[in-house]
Amino acid sequence: MADVERPLVEEHSLDRDCTTLSRHVLQQLQSFSAEAQDLSALMNRIALAAKLISRRLSRAGLMEGALGFTGNINVQGESVKKMDIYANDVFISVFKQSGLVCRLASEEMEKPYYIPENCPIGRYTLIYDPIDGSSNIDINLNIGSIFSIRRQEGDDIDGNALDLLQDGHKQLAAGYVLYGPSTMLVYSIGTGVHSFTLDPSLGEFILSNENIQIPEHGPVYSVNEGNFWQWDESIRDYIRYVHRHEGYTARYSGALVGDFHRILSQGGVFLYPGTLKKPEGKLRLLYESAPLAFLMAQAGGKASTGTQNLLDVVPDALHTRTPLIIGSKEDVSLVESFIQERARESQEVVTVRS
Ligand code: AHG
Ligand code: MN
Ligand code: MN
Repeated sequence: MADVERPLVEEHSLDRDCTTLSRHVLQQLQSFSAEAQDLSALMNRIALAAKLISRRLSRAGLMEGALGFTGNINVQGESVKKMDIYANDVFISVFKQSGLVCRLASEEMEKPYYIPENCPIGRYTLIYDPIDGSSNIDINLNIGSIFSIRRQEGDDIDGNALDLLQDGHKQLAAGYVLYGPSTMLVYSIGTGVHSFTLDPSLGEFILSNENIQIPEHGPVYSVNEGNFWQWDESIRDYIRYVHRHEGYTARYSGALVGDFHRILSQGGVFLYPGTLKKPEGKLRLLYESAPLAFLMAQAGGKASTGTQNLLDVVPDALHTRTPLIIGSKEDVSLVESFIQERARESQEVVTVRS
């Protein structure tokens, strides 16, 4: 049979269309082992949750009862939106049918949610922020979901999930979904960071970018400057520094996922430092900071509390908060240097006085 000349572009785009999320996970692990199959299935379920949430968000303004507050306050002391609860319940429903997950822990639930029928075999725990950036929901701006998967350790017979109180290196997988102009899913299972875009016509997440690496330095600093007088002097020092030097620009969307996504793509630093009222800041370790720190480390960047590698922090409770400084290595190190400088100065004052 004569060779038929094929248009290369079409061939490449077809290959791309075939790289779905579950296939990608198996390719990354280069294995069809039981754990590889589990991780692939887990990512597939997360993708399903993302599609369900994305579908509702795209029509929320046209639906009765999709937007607005529920009237309840969550364990964080924050007002709960209807979409927070919808998204929280979507993850539960999706994982009820997975068999793989015995427990789910989220921002919207004081204690972990157990799926007893899965517990004999469900060796994984899903920890998640169902909707990140809730203040953006009702104004149709970008929001996200953040997830982290850990292997369950022990039988957790008394149901207090103490094995979750470990550092961020214990994460098997982490990622986020960004509900923006398109819906994207970014994940890592410890083999680089990869992004997928939801193709609504196929109903599939299709590979967009593989092995994303953050630049060593970037122009963006992302922080709520409304808290300026609430911060420690060292953070004000850093902000004064970027104000006085050329080449910096501020971007802050009010949704960590969106701000993180920009910085991952373009470089720079996101900060949510402690404030006078909240010395540990606002962001929760297990389902906000640690998953993003896992991704950032995989992308060649850095995450810090200011004084410690974020991935080394061991929480003392499910909803523990930590300050977060995350992004390009050089920029995170610069913020840390201002913190160290102030710490040294106050140490010297203490020494002189004593
Ligand atoms: P959530 O909507 O899950 O409670 O998280 C909101 C977080 C995060 O997305 C964002 O970076 C930060 O809160 C914004 O807080 P401020 O309004 O204090 O800047
Ligand atoms: Mn959040
Ligand atoms: Mn949330």
